[in-house]
Amino acid sequence: MTPMFLLILVVFQNSIIITIATSKFTIPDATILQIQSAFTHNHLTSKQLVQFYLTQIQKLNPIYKAVIEINPDALVQAKTADQQRYNKTPISNSPLHGIPVLVKDNIATKDKLNTTAGSYALLGSVVARDAGVVKKLREAGAIILGKASLSEWAHFRSSDAPSGWNARAKQAVNPYVASVDPCGSSTGSAISVATNMVTVSLGTETDGSILCPSSNNSVVGIKPTVGLTSRSGVVPISPRQDTVGPMCRTVSDAVYVLDAIVGFDKYDASATQKASKYIPKDGYLKHLNSSGLKGKRLGVVRDYYYFGFGNDTETLNKFEKHFKILRRNGAILVENLKMIDFERILSMASDEDIALTAEFKSALNAYLKKLVASPVRSLADVIAFNKKHAHLEKIKEYPQDLFLAAEKMNGTSKLEKEALINLKKASKLGFEKLMNDNNLDALVTPKSSGSSALAIGGYPGIIVPAGYDKSGAPYGICFGGLKGSEPTLIEIAYGFEQATKFRKPPPIKI
Ligand SMILES: *[C@@H]1O[C@H](CO)[C@@H](O)[C@H](O)[C@H]1NC(C)=O
Ligand SMILES: *[C@@H]1O[C@H](CO)[C@@H](O)[C@H](O)[C@H]1NC(C)=O
Ligand SMILES: *[C@@H]1O[C@H](CO)[C@@H](O)[C@H](O)[C@H]1NC(C)=O
Ligand SMILES: *[C@@H]1O[C@H](CO)[C@@H](O)[C@H](O)[C@H]1NC(C)=O
Ligand SMILES: *[C@@H]1O[C@H](CO)[C@@H](O)[C@H](O)[C@H]1NC(C)=O
Repeated sequence: MTPMFLLILVVFQNSIIITIATSKFTIPDATILQIQSAFTHNHLTSKQLVQFYLTQIQKLNPIYKAVIEINPDALVQAKTADQQRYNKTPISNSPLHGIPVLVKDNIATKDKLNTTAGSYALLGSVVARDAGVVKKLREAGAIILGKASLSEWAHFRSSDAPSGWNARAKQAVNPYVASVDPCGSSTGSAISVATNMVTVSLGTETDGSILCPSSNNSVVGIKPTVGLTSRSGVVPISPRQDTVGPMCRTVSDAVYVLDAIVGFDKYDASATQKASKYIPKDGYLKHLNSSGLKGKRLGVVRDYYYFGFGNDTETLNKFEKHFKILRRNGAILVENLKMIDFERILSMASDEDIALTAEFKSALNAYLKKLVASPVRSLADVIAFNKKHAHLEKIKEYPQDLFLAAEKMNGTSKLEKEALINLKKASKLGFEKLMNDNNLDALVTPKSSGSSALAIGGYPGIIVPAGYDKSGAPYGICFGGLKGSEPTLIEIAYGFEQATKFRKPPPIKI
């Protein structure tokens, strides 16, 4: 801390306000850019920032259960970051330098933190190295504050378990309306940024796991094209659909994180190599353009709105208002579109289930085998563990039906092969054809209702807060595009966010 400025720390309505001369900076809801500016002007240190979040976690996490573990070295890492900034070490120019990040508990960190996907079966397992995305975060100077809670095994153990529940952290709670499903599986990643327990977080998605909790907790989520971000060191469901992405309070924060985590990783070589052609040479930041909606062709498939909300005219009317906003800001709405065989594509859900169930077994077994040490080495071991520790893992309440179904799969059945062919066909004739035939930049869907169309083909999507219903429950608007369309989606999402600024912090009363 430089003695040049008079620093006054005031605790005001539970938020630390740091006042220096004429400038005012408050940590809650501060963006990466605002935090970096406060660092530069010696209004804030990383240590103060980490301390604020640790206090916030201590206060709020007993209620919201968004954080599963805190990194005992976070404060030390913050002090190092402050020293680097003071010494003008090159890394301190990185936008993420000294910024605390929570990563979902299915993302490996080679430190004192456990990586368990919320399950006691993985407690005590030792990972070989940081996940590819964590390595990139550390290279960008970020501080790993801890692990965010999740639906256990990314919701691939039990179809009866509620979203946001895992045996270790218990049930996460929606900070806007406690009775509303917080959605999953990246539940803690969403809630922790919504409630200012951290600056930014990472989630993972196989189908809806970033988009849905972002929608229900009023944060921005980016579900990148599969392979754009490495999945190495991530407890898998399906390498065909799994992706890692940022969950943040603003589009700008999410894009700063995305910019840091994309790219080649030799431990997920094939997919990250293939997707590396989509990464703009000069990165994603310049696509944060508030005129980004200008001239963008946005497709509206009404079936999604009726599928999502039935005849809930209130919600439908809200989206009509959003369409007006999009038009007013220069977007061209292409209406009355039909996804070819919309119903058939919806029924692809069963093909998706078959494919994921088959892929899960071999992907999980491969993950478990690569661990340096682990109480479990195969899906069969995990099933046996859960039987043995039925009470701890609440097996009676939330049976491991998805595990049992996956264990029966052998990757060679006709059913599995057919499912994969059907999924490919559905993507080509459904989403891709719709986008290409109508020359669309993005498909606009309410909440996360379009997640399966994006999931089965590995397409990207960005969800942005879009309002609150009568009860105060949040919902988002999602922009999905063809593979590698992140730059365009960022322009659209940022344009919408800047024109609306719908997000408001949750009504926390403590
Ligand atoms: C990791 O789990 C072990 C129990 O196996 C526990 O003692 C330790 O505190 C955990 N680490 C953190 C950072 O919470
Ligand atoms: C998300 O929030 C809505 C309310 O906006 C709620 O109806 C729904 O059950 C929640 N969960 C999911 C999975 O959509
Ligand atoms: C922002 O978008 C507008 C409209 O498409 C464009 O004219 C302008 O050049 C863009 N700005 C930058 C910095 O790319
Ligand atoms: C919506 O209402 C119309 C007319 O009342 C009805 O024909 C239609 O089936 C309803 N759709 C849904 C999805 O409920
Ligand atoms: C795989 O499963 C199918 C049916 O589920 C069965 O017909 C086949 O024999 C099994 N193959 C192996 C190698 O176990």
